[in-house]
Amino acid sequence: MDAKPASESSAQLARWMGIGDANSAGNIHGGTVMKLADEAAGLAAIKHSRQRVVTASMDRMNFLYPIHIGELVTFSATVNAVWRSSMEVGVRVDAENPRTGEARHTSTAYLTMVAVDERGRPTPVPPLIATTDEEQRRMREAELRRANRLTEREQIIAPRKREEGPAG
Ligand SMILES: CC(C)(COP(=O)(O)OP(=O)(O)OC[C@H]1O[C@@H](n2cnc3c(N)ncnc32)[C@H](O)[C@@H]1OP(=O)(O)O)[C@@H](O)C(=O)NCCC(=O)NCCS
Repeated sequence: MDAKPASESSAQLARWMGIGDANSAGNIHGGTVMKLADEAAGLAAIKHSRQRVVTASMDRMNFLYPIHIGELVTFSATVNAVWRSSMEVGVRVDAENPRTGEARHTSTAYLTMVAVDERGRPTPVPPLIATTDEEQRRMREAELRRANRLTEREQIIAPRKREEGPAG
């Protein structure tokens, strides 16, 4: 499988937020932002792998500023690193008031997307080429986050298995 540059995975979604996206205070629901971040991450992962993908996990997502009705919200996604079947995708969320032009970075999220075959089984993805300094930094940081995720998973699963005892 030929390696592909990270830049080829780049995907953007934009949404002009309306009443249906908001709560009664006029702020956009966190869930609306998370859903669109998931869609943008899915697009980037599909562009890299050219396969069906599923969301395995979404890391902690901080909301730095509220987003309001009438603002244009952009979701910019790129594959940061790939392993066998999984890919870490970084999504940056920016909100802009189209009347004033004022823009701010409101969130960043990291999602793990897994390429799957027609039966839903994890399947290999092409290696990723990080060319620029920024892409190389993202790849290094993604490796750290993956190590932390796998350690956390192991630390939670191992004691549970011990408590359950041998199957059968
Ligand atoms: C994600 C999924 C395909 C993984 O299947 P699995 O049987 O656990 O497969 P594996 O253990 O071989 O893991 C496959 C890859 O996913 C990664 N992975 C699995 N769970 C993960 C998690 N919680 N966080 C990060 N990576 C994860 C593994 O590290 C592995 O990566 P690699 O192949 O690059 O080394 C499976 O759990 C699934 O289908 N989940 C539901 C996905 C879904 O429906 N999402 C939408 C939610 S509504």
